Amino acid sequence: MQNFQFYLPTRVYFGKGTIEKVGEEAKKLGKRALVVTGGKSARRMGALQRVEDSLKKMGVKTFLFEGVEANPSLETIKRGTNLTKEKKCQIVVGLGGGSPMDTAKGIAVAFTNPDPFTQYLGRNKLKESPLPVIAIPTTAGTGSEVTPYAVFTTTTDGKHQKKIMADPFIFPEVALVDPELTLSLPSSVTADTGIDALSHAIEGLISKNCQPLSDHLALEAIKLLSSYLPEVVRNPQDIEIRGQVLYASLLAGMVIAQTGTILVHLMSYRLTPDLNLPHGRACAILLPWVCEFNLKGSSAKLISLAKSLGEDVENLSQEEAVESVVNRIRDLVLQLGLPQDLKSRKIEESLIEDFASEAMQDKRKLANNPRKVTLEDVIEIYRKAFGVVK
Ligand SMILES: [Fe+2]
Repeated sequence: MQNFQFYLPTRVYFGKGTIEKVGEEAKKLGKRALVVTGGKSARRMGALQRVEDSLKKMGVKTFLFEGVEANPSLETIKRGTNLTKEKKCQIVVGLGGGSPMDTAKGIAVAFTNPDPFTQYLGRNKLKESPLPVIAIPTTAGTGSEVTPYAVFTTTTDGKHQKKIMADPFIFPEVALVDPELTLSLPSSVTADTGIDALSHAIEGLISKNCQPLSDHLALEAIKLLSSYLPEVVRNPQDIEIRGQVLYASLLAGMVIAQTGTILVHLMSYRLTPDLNLPHGRACAILLPWVCEFNLKGSSAKLISLAKSLGEDVENLSQEEAVESVVNRIRDLVLQLGLPQDLKSRKIEESLIEDFASEAMQDKRKLANNPRKVTLEDVIEIYRKAFGVVK
């Protein structure tokens, strides 16, 4: 068996009602907390109140930073950091989807690491340990509650770009993973974020950085998502099904925390700011094409991946098995009501080439992809995703 390392310094509480632990956990870390949250949904569904009550009960003074946008900007990080400094907070609580959790990580970093913040974008650039973060996801997909990653949007000359911060320092201290918080998610968010989780698990499983323990988690996540994602869209109020999907998303987050992601995430980054596509939806469109490309080149994980998706491919040829897996993923995307391609966007060929050459810059993700990727390959996959037939 291969040697491997599995690093997860986050204390994870999973289950109904675990949101109530925020006060007790925060008290161990300090007396003043900044609570970071998104639009109004955390307030509307009562999660924000529960967090504030729990903190108050344990004597932790709370300051609110509300209204974090999707794909948070560096200005948002700056405003949150200023508030944290002004109020002398010692803990940052991120309550919401990936954006509020990543913003909490960014504020925690900017509090202890001197300006400019941009110098910390990239891999392992932090100088000082950030403030402790308590992450409370309200969507089931990003896995940010257990990853050393945060994604921010920078703007240069009017051009928006997604930039990743990857550093073991930004693993949250505590993750409170409570399925009750996902009960009122709209179906479109459930679908988008669910496919993001599936993509994390599949990308981690077939990545070059894969390892036995993360593979085990990835296969379990894929199995759960493939059976429960269509279910959760049909029965959004079923706490048991919500729990299975949230658990799978947690596992998938643990996977990419070890392995990183590959071509799906790499190619998705321009689609969000340029085409205004939610992150998970961009992944949903690319995932089948990237799987087809990668699995054709390597069969190492094909059978276990197929099994976890509920497909029996033992007696099929390699080509038929790949087709069966890719069709199964397409079917899942379809069942969730997500688009299969971006034909309606009528994109210019020059923009596809621009996306592709930018994707080719990320050598790390390219090296993690199981199959060698050329610029032409990336262009071809984009063309397929955009429904442009050459
Ligand atoms: Fe993702």
